[in-house]
Amino acid sequence: MTSVAEAPPSTSAATKRAFHIERLGDLAIVWFDLPGEKVNKFSSWVMQEFSGVVDELEKDTDIKKVVVASKKPSIFIAGADVSEFQLVTSADQAKEYTRFGQQVLHRFSKLPQVTVAAINGACMGGGCELALSCDWRVMSDSPKAQIGLPETKLGIYPAWGGTTKLPRLIGLPAALDIILNGKTIDGKRAKRMGLVDEVVESGILLDVAKQFANRGKRRGGTRTKFMIDGNPVMRNIVFNKARKAVLKQTHGHYPAPLAAIDVMAYGMSHGVEKGLAREVDVVAPLILGDVAQNLVRLFFLMEESKKDPIAAKPRDVKDAGVLGAGVMGGGIAQIVVDKTDADVRMRDINWQAISGGMKAASKIWKRKVETRRMTRGEMQRKLARISGTTDWSGFARTDVVVEAVVENVQIKRQVLAEFESTAKDGAIFATNTSTIPITRIAAEAKHPENVVGMHFFNPVDRMPLVEVIRGEKTSDVAMVTVAAFARKLGKTVVYCNDGPGFVVNRILGPYMNEAGFVLEEGNEIASIDKAMVDFGMPMGPMALLDEVGIDVASKVAVILTDAFGDRMQKSTVVEKLYADGRHGKKNGKGLYEYKDGKRQGPDASVYKVIGVSSPKPADAKAVVERMVLAMVNEASLILDEKIVASAPELDLAMIMGTGFPPFRGGLLRYADALGTPYILARLDELSSKYGKRFIANEPLRRLAQRDGKFYQAYPR
Ligand code: NAI
Repeated sequence: MTSVAEAPPSTSAATKRAFHIERLGDLAIVWFDLPGEKVNKFSSWVMQEFSGVVDELEKDTDIKKVVVASKKPSIFIAGADVSEFQLVTSADQAKEYTRFGQQVLHRFSKLPQVTVAAINGACMGGGCELALSCDWRVMSDSPKAQIGLPETKLGIYPAWGGTTKLPRLIGLPAALDIILNGKTIDGKRAKRMGLVDEVVESGILLDVAKQFANRGKRRGGTRTKFMIDGNPVMRNIVFNKARKAVLKQTHGHYPAPLAAIDVMAYGMSHGVEKGLAREVDVVAPLILGDVAQNLVRLFFLMEESKKDPIAAKPRDVKDAGVLGAGVMGGGIAQIVVDKTDADVRMRDINWQAISGGMKAASKIWKRKVETRRMTRGEMQRKLARISGTTDWSGFARTDVVVEAVVENVQIKRQVLAEFESTAKDGAIFATNTSTIPITRIAAEAKHPENVVGMHFFNPVDRMPLVEVIRGEKTSDVAMVTVAAFARKLGKTVVYCNDGPGFVVNRILGPYMNEAGFVLEEGNEIASIDKAMVDFGMPMGPMALLDEVGIDVASKVAVILTDAFGDRMQKSTVVEKLYADGRHGKKNGKGLYEYKDGKRQGPDASVYKVIGVSSPKPADAKAVVERMVLAMVNEASLILDEKIVASAPELDLAMIMGTGFPPFRGGLLRYADALGTPYILARLDELSSKYGKRFIANEPLRRLAQRDGKFYQAYPR
């Protein structure tokens, strides 16, 4: 086999083995316990060893039953070793790599013994495909036990048999849902759809698995829905519908789900063996393609962001407070209760505001109740953990308070002073300001070392990023405590140094501003949004402006223009719309029309407000170039000023904070692909046409002159 990584990664590991076989009469338990790792995964050398295990089982006629089990707590098998994707250099190598793993698992599925997977925890990707190769699957009912095929999230599809075999086990519609969406599910749902045969308490998992081994080989027993799966006409209808849904969702930017559909269609009509061969052939170019490589890089960036580069010990957060019960305060209180054991004290200046914050929190839980992801009782219990107050009672014991009052430095300083006079020693004041430098907020603080930025994005429950910002005097302990707290809330943390707008909003500033200019020039609202959505943004800038709030944007614009002057040369669109009483979605009046809070078509009366008489469709290519290069130019300065430590972290922040298209790898990854000399030439051209705001900054100019790359100049 052309392996991408032949040997165990370290010499100490080389002497150990990943598998050992425990014999209990005619039953063999194949224990998987990858040495030196927290998780079990199939690296090439591990798969080679597993191939040896299959050889042994094929030969040993005394063994009649086989149970595969894991020694790792709450992990069965996390999947293939994703890092090896980055080592693959040719299509032949990609095929060999895939075929080898697939054939080992396929041989395992043909063993004469009865085989059972005892799934004690995460069972993902290649792990799920091993489970699919068993006669029976028994799964723990622990919430950590999840099974699924997340491959499409990494730009590929399951090619160790999953794409061919899953539809045969659970039927085509359910298999499409799991594979195309890269879904993972818990035991209860897996049992309902026939993906596992039994769900039991983890304490008896192994015993139940052994009992299943006594049932003998599985005969038929698949859930093939003959109405659909056995009927080529019906199948075609299902596949076409799936293709349409994928295209609608991905705008054709993600090739893997479409390839998976083709492979499934082929496998369903040509049988397992041919299906497996097709899996290998079609996946190879995907592994080598930019999309998978970018998504895999992103996966590792996210993994790395979980490790803290600051060597200080985070403090425990048992009691949390929220100041300001508005849109953000309510959302923050909700997520703290949802994801931690901490109770939340929420303060505002009047009871009306507090009840608004409570409503914002309960709205999110209500959605969960409606979709049966939570019971009404659970919701009531959670709501009861948020208490409100208009004074400072109860704040003497809070470990961390998140400040989310109005975006005004005087008010924030006042609130901070009041907090300091009630708080216990060492209590942390984490401000959710979206643009004001932390050092300015902390200027009059008694304990500026305890003041830190904790910038969430809206809506709090859905946006995965938190920027954690260090003011001039912020202590390491405050940084790591807030970062650990944010990670507990399920967020990805990017550390930032201080400065107006930090990273994401500072880059979004020129982007939104440029959209304003494009609009003012007489381009249609919908066509501007379409250009950016086609580029891969989750929503266009006009719709985003309505979501963020035109009132909020007008304040942000003032702060950024004050801080950066000419570079943030302002379009007048936001001002004009704000003056016209348009606040966006929140008051149902913005660039778009709203009905029952839902966005409808663009509001044609906007053009008159901004002085455009006959709007025309925008030139999409030109729009994308202006909007993206405006961001790249600002990003270059942010790196030069060390607001963020590296190009990859800036990209992570943009993907998690704005939804910058992950398949492009991030803003600077995209810029590097275009090439900095090309970017410089285009900026020179744009500045001569549109003015100062496009003048390339010095660091970018220098980088371009030596044909440098952001990722090399600002590595992690
Ligand atoms: P909001 O206007 O919805 O809520 C602010 C709340 O603060 C109001 O309920 C107000 O009564 C209260 N408040 C005012 N003075 C107070 C005081 N002295 N003590 C306690 N409460 C007081 O504003 P929103 O949108 O929730 O923003 C809050 C903060 O979060 C701002 O700093 C904003 O820049 C930031 N932010 C906002 C985002 C957004 O998209 N809305 C995103 C990220 C950050």
